[in-house]
Amino acid sequence: MADTIPDLGGIPKAQAYLELKGHCDSILEGMADPIAGMATIATLIHYAFGHLWTGFYRVVEPGQLLRVGPYQGSLGCLEISFGRGVCGTAAAELKTLIVPDVGKFPGHITCDARARSEIVVPVLGEQGNLIAVLDVDSDQLDAFDADDKRGLEGLVSWFAK
Ligand code: SME
Repeated sequence: MADTIPDLGGIPKAQAYLELKGHCDSILEGMADPIAGMATIATLIHYAFGHLWTGFYRVVEPGQLLRVGPYQGSLGCLEISFGRGVCGTAAAELKTLIVPDVGKFPGHITCDARARSEIVVPVLGEQGNLIAVLDVDSDQLDAFDADDKRGLEGLVSWFAK
C-alpha cells in the first residue's frame, strides 16, 4: 500500500490529478466502505494541494439534508439543507459548481472567514444516486478551474465503482 501523500502543488493540475487518482486507487484497493473512502480521498486532496478545507457532506435525507462527513481543515458546519449555500445548491442541481469568489455567491455559508473560492462536486454511489458532495475551499480567489472539475469528478468516481 502506498502510504505517503505526494506534494502536487507545483505540477500541472491535469498531471497532478492523474497521479493522485493512481495513489487513491492503490490505497483503497479492496476497500468497499464509503466512509473510509471519503476520509482517504479528502486527506489526499487536502495535503497534496494544500487547500484550506477539503471534505464531504453526506446525504442523510435525500433531497433534503446534508450532514458533514470526513474532512480536513478547520471546523465545518454540521448540516446544510439542499438548496442552501454552494454545497446545498450543487446537491439540489446535481452538478459541479465552481465559485471563483464566494463573496459573490448569494447564500454562501461561511465556515471559515479565510475562504475565498470553492468547488463542490456531487458524489454518486453504486446505484447512481447522490450520496454526498465533495467541497474544496481555498484561501485564494479563483483557485479552481475545469482541470479541478475533471480531476475531482474522476476521484469521486471511486464511489460509483
Ligand atoms: N462552503 C460551503 C459551506 C461549508 S464549509 O465551507 C466547510 C457552502 O457554502 O456550501
